Amino acid sequence: MTVQANHTLFKPLDGKESGNIEIWFNDEPLTVPAGRSVAAALLASGVSRFRATPVSGAPRAPYCMMGACFECLVEIDGVPSRQSCMVEVKAGMRVRSQEGARDLPPTHPADISLENAHGR
Ligand code: FES
Repeated sequence: MTVQANHTLFKPLDGKESGNIEIWFNDEPLTVPAGRSVAAALLASGVSRFRATPVSGAPRAPYCMMGACFECLVEIDGVPSRQSCMVEVKAGMRVRSQEGARDLPPTHPADISLENAHGR
């Protein structure tokens, strides 16, 4: 899917790169506008299901876009429950929708994979 960076609801972050970049969403390549949050980039590229509720499986998507509602939770580079509206999108990111309750975190820091974590 190709996106026109100038034709989106969301403005690029000040001083950030413009144009399009490639990321992965649910193991599929996706072209998104750069210089935005992950949530804004996914919405601009037509993604409307970011997660499903743990109890009923109802679909959810970003609501506040400012870190207050937690409706935008996704897995980013293997780290679950990231607020996609608070993370800048980067080329090569691997983003997955979060279906139901997340797994428990590793009990020991050595069990945490930092591969592809973009330093976060
Ligand atoms: S959209 Fe509300 S916390 Fe991200």
